Amino acid sequence: MSKSFRIGIAGLGTVGVGVVKIIQKNADLLEQRCGRPIEIICVSARSKDKDRGVDLSAYEWVDNTEDMAGIDGIDAVVELVGGSEGVAYSLTKQALENGVHVVTANKALVANHGYELASLAEGRDVSLSYEAAVAGGIPVIKALREGFAANRISSIYGILNGTCNYILTDMRETGAEFEDSLVEAQEKGYAEADPSFDIDGVDAGHKICLLASIAFGVKPEFSAVRMTGIRRITGIDIKFAGELGYKLKLLGIARDQGGKLNISVEPCLVPNSSPLAAIEDVYNAVFINGDFVDTPLLTGRGAGEGPTASAVVADIIDLARGFKVPTFGIPADKLKDPVFIDQGEILARYYLRLSVVDQPGVIADVSAILRDYNISIESMVQHGRAPGQAVSVVMTTHKTKYIDIESSCVLIAELETLLDFPCVMRLEDEL
Ligand SMILES: NC(=O)c1ccc[n+]([C@@H]2O[C@H](COP(=O)([O-])OP(=O)(O)OC[C@H]3O[C@@H](n4cnc5c(N)ncnc54)[C@H](OP(=O)(O)O)[C@@H]3O)[C@@H](O)[C@H]2O)c1
Repeated sequence: MSKSFRIGIAGLGTVGVGVVKIIQKNADLLEQRCGRPIEIICVSARSKDKDRGVDLSAYEWVDNTEDMAGIDGIDAVVELVGGSEGVAYSLTKQALENGVHVVTANKALVANHGYELASLAEGRDVSLSYEAAVAGGIPVIKALREGFAANRISSIYGILNGTCNYILTDMRETGAEFEDSLVEAQEKGYAEADPSFDIDGVDAGHKICLLASIAFGVKPEFSAVRMTGIRRITGIDIKFAGELGYKLKLLGIARDQGGKLNISVEPCLVPNSSPLAAIEDVYNAVFINGDFVDTPLLTGRGAGEGPTASAVVADIIDLARGFKVPTFGIPADKLKDPVFIDQGEILARYYLRLSVVDQPGVIADVSAILRDYNISIESMVQHGRAPGQAVSVVMTTHKTKYIDIESSCVLIAELETLLDFPCVMRLEDEL
């Protein structure tokens, strides 16, 4: 029998336990596919005594997780601890320095330290694999890095956070407000007790940062990703979007605009006819625009034990087969520094929701400010009349530069009849 591929699993939470289950249950299949057995030789987590619902008795327990990098004969460390710093970072770095492959599901780690770690891995002729870090069970890293490698990519749009997609779907279907749908997501186990990484767009930011690096051959630069989450979205926005023929989605956007990159996460209005509008609940999707492949859409479950562990084991299988590609598709020393487009220069159509006192002249004042910035209004919706009371007015614009929308909103907010700063969101009609 061929020599087994020997791995250590660091982190035995949701994903770590899922990986153990797959390797135990599908051992024969994995052996056939790799041409040799995959053997777990050691495991580690914080607490040795916790019952994790799987039999770990055959594996060496590593008390100090970071020591796993130096275990004799280990071929790959599977890092499933999480976090961009601490144990995850030091274990990964040490393993790569020791010439040991690393498989991880840790988007924060790769988005923050990807260039350094990729350089280290490639210098030692080992892999840093992270399929599970983006969109869980959907093999989007492999698709972009290998399947679509023949294409020049012009844009990627992704629904990359299942928690946010669940909340936005629930708000639309039930008419609930954001806070109520968040509680519902927490009760169903779709949102953490502290949900800020998800709802503020940070999680999706890590993911789109990685996809942009592969698509455009640039170093991942997470600190430059602009992120706006979904906290400010109200039931009224969802309703108005519906009336205008759109759904609200939190999109990760990576777009090449004339050689400059727009990498952001923001709530956008997506037309009902777009395939992305059909992605509901906790599902994820990635829409890629390549010059020859056209616009493939990959969709599936973006998180959870089974789908995420499935992606981790796929990376382990690749390594056991001896298959290796550069971390970001091209050698790390050939990755360019990204050049970002100035946010103000981004051309798009916009949705503007104004909370105003319903009195004569309000719309004329707003229109005059927009006209001064050369912003033309495409449509306007107001629900009923309530003289002297607060009402919401929604306008959609033709294509305009963000700087003009931003500047006009500052002036609009100063009008006496405005009750709140305007809510501005991008309309993504070309999806
Ligand atoms: N869950 C998902 O659906 C999902 C999807 C995609 C990607 N990911 C990524 O996968 C990774 C793991 O996520 P998870 O959901 O499995 O996390 P989790 O359930 O919280 O598990 C984390 C594991 O790491 C261990 N751990 C934490 N701090 C440690 C430390 N200082 N030293 C040693 N072990 C430590 C914990 O030990 P104890 O069990 O003893 O406390 C636990 O076993 C993260 O990078 C996450 O972003 C998760």
